[in-house]
Amino acid sequence: MKFFIDTADVGEIRKAHAMGVLDGVTTNPSLVAKTGRRFVDVLKEIVTIVDGPISAEVTALDAAGMIDQGRNLAKIHENIVVKIPMTLAGLEATKALSGSGIKVNMTLIFSASQGLLAAKAGATYASPFIGRLDDISNEGMPVIADLVTIYGNYGYPTQVLAASIRHPMHIVQAAKVGAHVATMPFKVIEQLVHHPLTDVGLDKFLADWKKVPQ
Ligand code: G3P
Repeated sequence: MKFFIDTADVGEIRKAHAMGVLDGVTTNPSLVAKTGRRFVDVLKEIVTIVDGPISAEVTALDAAGMIDQGRNLAKIHENIVVKIPMTLAGLEATKALSGSGIKVNMTLIFSASQGLLAAKAGATYASPFIGRLDDISNEGMPVIADLVTIYGNYGYPTQVLAASIRHPMHIVQAAKVGAHVATMPFKVIEQLVHHPLTDVGLDKFLADWKKVPQ
């Protein structure tokens, strides 16, 4: 399973990269807005930190505008993946960009039918937002499981990217149903590491070690 970090904060990206488990980065307009920086500057810095897929989202609503923005984003670096929302225009833009060799991450996916369309349009990644579904009392994880099954049934190369992750169990559950990728906030990466018995066990080992003649 690939781990992406869902942030535009380069400080967090550097820390996650140093942990040695990071395969890529996803950003969205809300995350970029939090940085107070120009999008292009943020992207140019991220590509120097992580040598893996970096999702950068378009903001145009029409297909021609999405394609134009997508081409410009892709020119920034070979690792840029153009993030496109699941709309009719988004499908058209995904088909066009994928057809010209530009990788696309279709975002704002909330159903298996939307995910199937993303694969048919040639998206490299499809991003179901499981946390936002859970937030409205609608289980998100079945969408991940359904898409893993559907893509497997037909041999679609599109990867299921579990997004809108809220906690470590989302990662474990997504891994159990075979999600290819999970993108998560830095806080969740940290939470994955910690276990109280690890802390207690380490304290005991170090206390006992003091009794060993040196
Ligand atoms: O970046 C897409 C997605 O992961 C957003 O998550 O936490 O805003 O629902 P969230």
